[in-house]
Amino acid sequence: MQKNHPFADRWNHNSQQYPRVAELVADQPLVLDVGCGEGTLARYLADQGHQVVGIDLDPSVLPDDDENTHFMIGDATGLPFADASFDAVVSVMVLHQTRLELALVEMRRVVRSGGLVVNIGYARDKGVGERLRSAADIPGDLLARIGTSRWEPPTITMNALLGWAETREAIERMLPGASWERLNGWRYLSVWQRP
Ligand SMILES: C[S@@+](CC[C@H](N)C(=O)[O-])C[C@H]1O[C@@H](n2cnc3c(N)ncnc32)[C@H](O)[C@@H]1O
Repeated sequence: MQKNHPFADRWNHNSQQYPRVAELVADQPLVLDVGCGEGTLARYLADQGHQVVGIDLDPSVLPDDDENTHFMIGDATGLPFADASFDAVVSVMVLHQTRLELALVEMRRVVRSGGLVVNIGYARDKGVGERLRSAADIPGDLLARIGTSRWEPPTITMNALLGWAETREAIERMLPGASWERLNGWRYLSVWQRP
């Protein structure tokens, strides 16, 4: 079913969402990818004409730079960039692995006025409602995987501590007006535009 998906041959619940990220930042020339891991999203965005800086805590996974990408070691909670440096900040599956509020303050700081902060992530199921909501993702996930090849990048993944509602509340507190959408495959999408 997903054989036309650009990441059908490198499929996981994160790469599944990369086209959505690309669509959201299509008009933003300079993009920061926070927690870029081994750089697949950054390079995908660069292939579409963006200049991309990728930053990650883990030097062992960072790839080499090329013409449109620059990768560096750094911490999401203390980004080494001046205020309003980027047209968009994107981050996939990182907030739950760090001090979420501090990372959001930094994302908010380094994006320009009118620019976007796009976060995709997951959370822990807390309570019956969240468990049921996550169980509802199973059929869609089975369908979405048809025709794909599973891909395990060499990045470190940790379990989430915050629940879905807690994560949403924290994002909305730090980025007032941010959107919240539950995506197929146990992910949320939040988009915030800096006023
Ligand atoms: C699950 S991986 C996701 C990688 C990539 N964004 C993707 O879509 O596959 C989480 C990444 O976040 C990085 N990370 C965790 N905490 C971080 C922090 N405080 N600052 C920068 N990177 C961080 C980890 O080193 C890891 O590469």
